[in-house]
Amino acid sequence: MVLRVSEMKTAAQIEFGDFQTPLDLAIEICALLRREGLKPEVIIEPTFGLGAFLVAAAEAFPAARLRGFEINADYLQATRQALRDAKVSNRCELRLQDFFTFDWDTEFRSMTGSILLLGNPPWVTNAAVARLNGSNLPIKENFLGFRGIEARTGKSNFDISEWMLIRLLCALRGKPATLAMLCKTATARKLLRYAWQNDGRIAGASLYRIDVKKHFNASVDACLLLAHIGSSGPTEAAVFASLQARKPFSHLGIIESETANIFSTSGGAHAPSRVSVGAPPTEQASARSTVCGKRSMKDCGEAPQSAREARALPRRTCNRTALVADIRTYSRLKHLEGRCPYQWRSGLKHDCASVMELLPNPDGTFSNKLKERVRIERDYLYPLLKCTDLSKGNSNPTRFVLVTQKRVGEDTRPIARQAPQTWDYLNAHAEYFQARKSPIYKNGAPFALFGVGDYSFAPWKVAVSGLHRHPRFGLVGPQGERPVFFDDTCYFLSFAEEREARAVAEILNTPHCLDFLASLMFPDSKRPVTVELLRRLNLSAIAQDAGLAGLWKSIQPLDGQGSESKEGGISLTRD
Ligand SMILES: C[S@@+](CC[C@H](N)C(=O)[O-])C[C@H]1O[C@@H](n2cnc3c(N)ncnc32)[C@H](O)[C@@H]1O
Repeated sequence: MVLRVSEMKTAAQIEFGDFQTPLDLAIEICALLRREGLKPEVIIEPTFGLGAFLVAAAEAFPAARLRGFEINADYLQATRQALRDAKVSNRCELRLQDFFTFDWDTEFRSMTGSILLLGNPPWVTNAAVARLNGSNLPIKENFLGFRGIEARTGKSNFDISEWMLIRLLCALRGKPATLAMLCKTATARKLLRYAWQNDGRIAGASLYRIDVKKHFNASVDACLLLAHIGSSGPTEAAVFASLQARKPFSHLGIIESETANIFSTSGGAHAPSRVSVGAPPTEQASARSTVCGKRSMKDCGEAPQSAREARALPRRTCNRTALVADIRTYSRLKHLEGRCPYQWRSGLKHDCASVMELLPNPDGTFSNKLKERVRIERDYLYPLLKCTDLSKGNSNPTRFVLVTQKRVGEDTRPIARQAPQTWDYLNAHAEYFQARKSPIYKNGAPFALFGVGDYSFAPWKVAVSGLHRHPRFGLVGPQGERPVFFDDTCYFLSFAEEREARAVAEILNTPHCLDFLASLMFPDSKRPVTVELLRRLNLSAIAQDAGLAGLWKSIQPLDGQGSESKEGGISLTRD
């Protein structure tokens, strides 16, 4: 019996990341491993569930011994039966075991023969488990010890499978083995990056995309991560479109870069560490590893320390490295990398779209998302574009947004005098603002915003969606004297003059720039385009390559200083 995602409704299933692999997919994966020439003597399934991988692997590798671990007692019984039915139970040893309390170091140290780690670890994040008040987590400091700002921005959030895979890699300590794990594509990247940055002895790695909709009825981006461990190889991995594909469509890899932010959202491990996971265990590490029953990686010697320590180390000492989606294209175009001379901004954040976003009616009233007809002054209303508008090339807004502040922290009470209907409308919907979950609004002025400043009121903008895979930079001018705003799914540059904005948009939309950006971007990320990536665009070099050097020169200040342009009291500052 295979549990499908659509049937999984209970909190326990969510907490335990219970997405069982269908047997046909497990068989297909084992066939690929055979095609790759694998001949494992020991196969380990660290969270075997209903045992699809154990059944498939027992069939595909008839000489192998199999060891499986699982926390769910019902699954243990079901898998025992499935292995008996397949007449392979004499080669299989199953154990009811919590992954987090198992001594993986001792398990691997005593192991002989070629090892295959095969499976599909839980699909759940620490934040989701925490929301359910669940306990299926590594020790709390590992994810709750992050500082407030990181919790607020979501940087402390990580996948349980990421933690588990790093744990297994650390416990192997460079011992020859093959890792073949189904996981989110982002998790695979984070594991590889962690290994490459910490001498994880990855001899070679590849990612095979999985049709998650078909096999799991879910809509995440997942892959089979295949990594051969034991010696250090190139820091790049071939990416295949499917399990059947014979040729990779790209190679992701790690690069050193002056401008890359190693903690960018483009795929950084949540807890990278500088210690070598490939190093043989020291006396000290061996001694510590005997206490692996503790639910903490730090007890395993070579693993990441507490989140706070692990996070601090690379920030102080690590080279500036970053993962790129297409290392070959990146290598060809890396001269286009630098520091963007303009400051990229995020759009307006209000977390109250139902009240703040309004559609105009012919009679001069507005409709909000609560389907209410609203009569308010126009003083605080500004045209609004969203990421979908930008991705479609639409720069003519049809909706408005209420902008209650000109800068973060500004007192909102003057609205009462200047626009009493607006003030009444806001107060009549105060409960929607009070229900905003983000802690950034705590103790702020009523109806406060984020992502607002002088730059928001500049007349000309060049904007891009953060959520779409194919970036398109839109030139956006004022609408009837009003500057256009963007929501917080967009990024933009501000300009006082149309001429400069137009030139920059042209340079950003050249194939040279878009190809370079594509080489850095991971399309399956929630936000494929980030401010960190945009900051790495060297507009001068891009213009040069694209034959637009003259255009670029024409917008450089004559005095050569080039740091500031002003218009209408708005100061637009370059970095
Ligand atoms: C994504 S399912 C995959 C199951 C199986 N590996 C497969 O491929 O079908 C994840 C499995 O991890 C198990 N699991 C979750 N937390 C665990 C833990 N702390 N220790 C051991 N197993 C765990 C769940 O019960 C579930 O069976």
